[in-house]
Amino acid sequence: MTTAKAHANIALIKYWGKKDESLFLPFTSSLSLTLDPLYTITTVSKDSTLTKDLFVLNGVTQNSQETEKISKFVDYFRKNNQFVRIESSNSFATAAGLASSASGYAALSKALNQEFEWRYTDLELSRITRKGSGSATRSLFGGFAVWQTGDDESSFGYSLPTQMDIVMVIAVVDDQKKSHSSRSMMKRTVQESAYFEAWVQQSERDFSDMLIAVTERDLRRIGLIAERNAMMMHATLLANQTPFFYLQPKSLEIIQLVQQLREQGIVAYYTMDAGPNVKIITNSTDQAKVIEQLSEILNQDNIIIAKPGPGASIL
Ligand code: ADP
Ligand code: DP6
Repeated sequence: MTTAKAHANIALIKYWGKKDESLFLPFTSSLSLTLDPLYTITTVSKDSTLTKDLFVLNGVTQNSQETEKISKFVDYFRKNNQFVRIESSNSFATAAGLASSASGYAALSKALNQEFEWRYTDLELSRITRKGSGSATRSLFGGFAVWQTGDDESSFGYSLPTQMDIVMVIAVVDDQKKSHSSRSMMKRTVQESAYFEAWVQQSERDFSDMLIAVTERDLRRIGLIAERNAMMMHATLLANQTPFFYLQPKSLEIIQLVQQLREQGIVAYYTMDAGPNVKIITNSTDQAKVIEQLSEILNQDNIIIAKPGPGASIL
């Protein structure tokens, strides 16, 4: 029996689109921040009494579709046709745009690596983790992490050494399971969006600029690049044959608040993923001022203060 813990990460430069669906190869490289309060704890046990894998998520035994999805991933580690019992729980809302697939697959692969005695390094492991969920490549690492595009061999995650005062204030607009998964919507965007090519080109430039901004610990530049990159990702969805948006009225209200905060000289930038929740990028000096004004439009229970978190580990 092995238990592992991995933290979710929020991308500052987004992964949005696979150039190879079966190998989970992204069109572009992405860069993220792993967050302390959002995590998954997963226990994997080989069980010779089982005739197929068993997957229990947040106390609920998952249906055949979810179990088959996870079994395909276990196959990368499985030895001697042994089935496993997987029990996992997330410390935050699942499938709501808070990166549960990232922490979920990072914790799972970390646990499977040990349970089947593979002894892969985190870098090697991230290559395999990629095939569970792309964003999970980055959750094996703490702090700032990159997932580089490339081929099957060269597309993996790694951590950046930068440590700095950065805080993400997460505004939970809706914690319900989203109607359209990241996976399905990024696929449709690749196929349909009139803006997809422009996204790939701009995101490559954003990635290079972000690497410099993170190396120089330049929070202002990090914030400005992250905002533009996120909104461009959302713009690709608006340019689908059937336009789609994850933003809700409350999301827009928070974005406007962030712009007002900045006009008041407060450090505040925003990013958004495949869901309506907004992540406000700030620092420990201005965090209280951000929360004070955010509390006027959002219940305290729906505000998560997230500092950088560690890489995945065996408990
Ligand atoms: P999110 O924004 O939360 O990442 P996604 O739709 O991208 O939402 O991914 C959610 C999916 O990730 C779930 O439907 C489930 O298949 C998978 N997932 C979530 N949590 C876990 C976990 N702890 N272990 C394994 N898989 C998980
Ligand atoms: C918007 O990693 O969930 O959060 O690889 O199909 O599992 P799959 O997709 P997933 O997509 C994450 C998309 C994103 C941006 C990001 O995290 O980089």
